[in-house]
Amino acid sequence: MRGLHIAEMLRRQGRHISFHTPGHKRAGADITELSYSDSLLSPHGVIGAAERDAAKILGAAASFFLTDGSTSGVFSMFYALKERGITSVAVPSASHRSVRLACELLGIKSVPIPQKLRAGIPLQPDEEGIRTALSSGAEALLLTSPDYYGYFAPLSLARELCGNIPLAVDGAHGSHLHFTETYAGRYADLWVDGVHKSLPALTQGAVVSAKSEAWAAALRKGVRTFRTTSPSYPILASVEYAVKYPRNERIERAAERCKREVGALANDDWSKIVVPFGREADAAQRALEERGVYPEFNDGNYLMFYLSPCTKERELKLLSRLLKGLPRGEVGEDAAEGAVPLYSEE
Ligand SMILES: Cc1ncc(COP(=O)(O)O)c(C=O)c1O
Repeated sequence: MRGLHIAEMLRRQGRHISFHTPGHKRAGADITELSYSDSLLSPHGVIGAAERDAAKILGAAASFFLTDGSTSGVFSMFYALKERGITSVAVPSASHRSVRLACELLGIKSVPIPQKLRAGIPLQPDEEGIRTALSSGAEALLLTSPDYYGYFAPLSLARELCGNIPLAVDGAHGSHLHFTETYAGRYADLWVDGVHKSLPALTQGAVVSAKSEAWAAALRKGVRTFRTTSPSYPILASVEYAVKYPRNERIERAAERCKREVGALANDDWSKIVVPFGREADAAQRALEERGVYPEFNDGNYLMFYLSPCTKERELKLLSRLLKGLPRGEVGEDAAEGAVPLYSEE
């Protein structure tokens, strides 16, 4: 692993008397932008070095650390698109609310790509949907990959269909994939990694990246518009740590084993275990929580368990044992079929 520039700087700082923000005056790791701690908006020191390392790891011309979640990364990507003359973007109908809000705020037209529902779960856009959106005037395409249920968007196909049309990817749930062919950064011009969700970073830690220098220049203006002017150093240090965190193939294999044992959906992403419970979902959630096991969400049919390289094998074994002992209902009776309304995922 490369050196951890930001954490190292925080470790080495001398004790000092704080006549600076934050108001708790305890200095420690939660400092502000001081003479030695660099600046997020104009990084020339430890933050700049950490961002350059991240760009190398993620295969980007430039990467920008975010302490305000993938939300500010989505806003910044749309800003970059607008900056380079894009006025309409094709977006899947189940896109995150930040996509709708970015379009509204920046005056970008969104061209919806219909997503079908199967047993309550939105399917990723297919070839026909992407083709139709692109041929109906969209000047750029945004996809979400992977989605919250662990399905990948057809990124390779999308890249082919886009040709020179810009492709942006909301990878809020995919930062752990940068070791693989399925990673957004292999295909996209712009992409955001929600490192706090699937890598060991503090909540709100994220990275937004650009593939080329031209996109990097536009994205730099975007992040300067949407990022905070008071970044959290603990979050910044954790983003650097997370991007440099090694792959854990043992837990990836254990996760796939667990999925088979518990009858989870056969999805694409090892880090998302989605278990069908139908009408028993609430009871199953209560039973698990009584044993101190908390899922990421319960959508009324499925419980979703979110893993990361830091998940322990013994925790997966416990999960598997508990899940096998819980009653299941049929999914499908109440689960919606049909099409996802535009921006349904609030
Ligand atoms: C697909 C998707 N994109 C973007 C976001 C926003 O991420 P954050 O909460 O880090 O701002 C989320 C949040 O859950 C999401 O699910």
